[in-house]
Amino acid sequence: MKATVHLKDFHVEAVGSKFSRQRSKIGTIGELMLNNISRFFLTIFIFMACALTIPGEAQSNKTLSLMPMPATVQPGTGEFLIGSSLKVLVQGNGGSLVERAVNRFLYGLWQRTGIPTRSASSDSPPNFIVNCATAGSDVQSVEEDESYRLEVTSSTVHLDAPKPLGVLHGLQTFLQLVEVGPQGFAAPVITIKDQPRFPWRGLLIDVSRHFMPLEVVKRNLDGMEAVKFNVLHWHLSDDQGFRVESKKFPKLQQMSSEGMYYTQEQIKDLIEYAHDRGIRVVPEFDVPGHATSWFVAYPELASEPGPYQVEHKWGVFNPAMDPTREETYQFLDDFIGEMARLFPDPYFHIGGDEVNGKAWSKNPKIQEFKTAHDLKKNHDLQAWFNKRLQEIVKKHGKIMVGWDEILHPDLPKEIVVQSWRGQKSLAEAARQGYRGLLSSGYYLDLMEPASQHYAMEPLAGATADLTAEEKQRILGGEACMWAEYVNPMNVDGRIWPRAAVVAERLWSAAEVRDLDSMYSRLNRASAGLEWLGLTHQSGARLMLERLSSPHDVHALKLLADVLEPVKGYAREKARDYNSLTPLNRLVDSIPPESEVARDFAGMTTRLLAHASSAEEQDTMRIQLAAWRDNGPQLWPLLKNNALLQELVPVSQNQTLVATAGLQALDYLKTGGRAPTIWREQQLAMLEQAGKPQSELLNMIVPSVKKLVEATTGE
Ligand code: ACM
Repeated sequence: MKATVHLKDFHVEAVGSKFSRQRSKIGTIGELMLNNISRFFLTIFIFMACALTIPGEAQSNKTLSLMPMPATVQPGTGEFLIGSSLKVLVQGNGGSLVERAVNRFLYGLWQRTGIPTRSASSDSPPNFIVNCATAGSDVQSVEEDESYRLEVTSSTVHLDAPKPLGVLHGLQTFLQLVEVGPQGFAAPVITIKDQPRFPWRGLLIDVSRHFMPLEVVKRNLDGMEAVKFNVLHWHLSDDQGFRVESKKFPKLQQMSSEGMYYTQEQIKDLIEYAHDRGIRVVPEFDVPGHATSWFVAYPELASEPGPYQVEHKWGVFNPAMDPTREETYQFLDDFIGEMARLFPDPYFHIGGDEVNGKAWSKNPKIQEFKTAHDLKKNHDLQAWFNKRLQEIVKKHGKIMVGWDEILHPDLPKEIVVQSWRGQKSLAEAARQGYRGLLSSGYYLDLMEPASQHYAMEPLAGATADLTAEEKQRILGGEACMWAEYVNPMNVDGRIWPRAAVVAERLWSAAEVRDLDSMYSRLNRASAGLEWLGLTHQSGARLMLERLSSPHDVHALKLLADVLEPVKGYAREKARDYNSLTPLNRLVDSIPPESEVARDFAGMTTRLLAHASSAEEQDTMRIQLAAWRDNGPQLWPLLKNNALLQELVPVSQNQTLVATAGLQALDYLKTGGRAPTIWREQQLAMLEQAGKPQSELLNMIVPSVKKLVEATTGE
């Protein structure tokens, strides 16, 4: 959106306050209608806010780069300069959490501006007032108030929030507002009233497939705070490793972690770190399937005798807990009791996904048990197990969460169902009276573009027809970082910046969905995240340097910039991967989404719509020529490098694709007629070049194909 909106067009404050509703207050038809009307205004408002141009001398042509987009934004004129006079005063009863948050905020501001933010003299008046009405709960609850009001004038900033969570969010919003302008670093004059649409906005990190040291999780918590995620879903056990110290069952970490696990002290430290950042920590211990690591240590829990080894491959494996033995439940009771004390959050995730039932079918005693209890299918047996499990989880004061396979009418309505197989199961759960979370569409490991995750709306599609009451049961969702193809070196680049668009989907109004605005704000957010110690940008550069050492990285980067890793589950089929396979090839090093290819696609679209400038057309030619000519410089590097040899055909393709693009531009410039034989040859070449090679996709191909198709045969 390119619209420039002037201040006089903004009469949004009154409208805005209507749609900044508490989710719990919706229900009656009247309220719903009001809500729909509000949504109409909201759409208009958001349309304007996304491309908001702040008037005023100092901030001319500045677009607000907030992510997630706040509920209401009312811009003003002028700016609040960041300088040595900045002095924060904390008021109210927010407690030490707010004090610590302000300290981190001042450090963040210092990082982003280079301006010492503690230099105000002791007699200068405070000009940044943080007011927090009351302290938060010791254990952050799902219902906790997260709202805040941020008012920036040219002389003061006021941040008001009922609870510390609002202060945390408001401080992050302020940090995002700060940009350098003609007068220096400043935040625009603005009033923001904000609160989330959904109360549960999570990020799952799998630390079983590849272990992630504590500092990796911590820097991701910093990233989560920046974009207002409030749940870390910590996937702590799976076939490939058990990652938590158990004092009751120490063989779990001794035999099943290969030395990579968190001590209970580390876990407490992490939970405190998360709590300081407004993030709940929900542990997941996946049972009765995905549980080989348990059986390495305690084979008696399994449905087959074993022995078992920690699994190094990826996939769905047969081993499953024996749901028919009382000893299994005694073990789970003791284990969950221990973990329930370690993890203070009221929610406890038991996994429950992908139980193929093969181990149960092979065990005659288990089959007899099924018959005796009139359990027709293995899924009924799993439901029987889940029912017992839920009683144990509840006994230890927790609410059970599980993947959508656990959905079964025998389970009490208090459980939460997390949908990963599609929105249908979320809708089904809500209809049956269960609360739900959406993760389908938010799998970051599938290497899809940010736009695809952004388009996944929890209350559209299969859930659109739910009643207002049923919709209330959808608590939010979680982005998921499954760890088959990530390690501590590249995991940040798989999570960030794309996770930020899931955070926005769950925080901001559904009507905030303009892609140009999203990508432009995402770029800014991405830079801010790197300041927190995340390595999504710097890591990609380091990994390219590692690959090209000791050569100049430039030629390799020119190729890498148009490539993306293959999508979905394609890597599983490409090679025999396991947890010991080095993740050091180009496919592991590049971002999931090529910004260069996206920009080129935009230029192509405009060119074909006769809407591009001569300058932009020149840019396309310069890029295509650089790609065409890059091959000969790159090949000597590729040929003498064991990790890069596989890229020779990838690079050769790029030369062909770029050459075709240049030729197509020539034909299009002179009327568009091209020899039929040339068109056919190029389209056949592009068909080949568009296929995955070395688990990489050339993302320029679709654009060049459009250029070739736009010519007409002779
Ligand atoms: C899952 O992806 N199996 C939850």
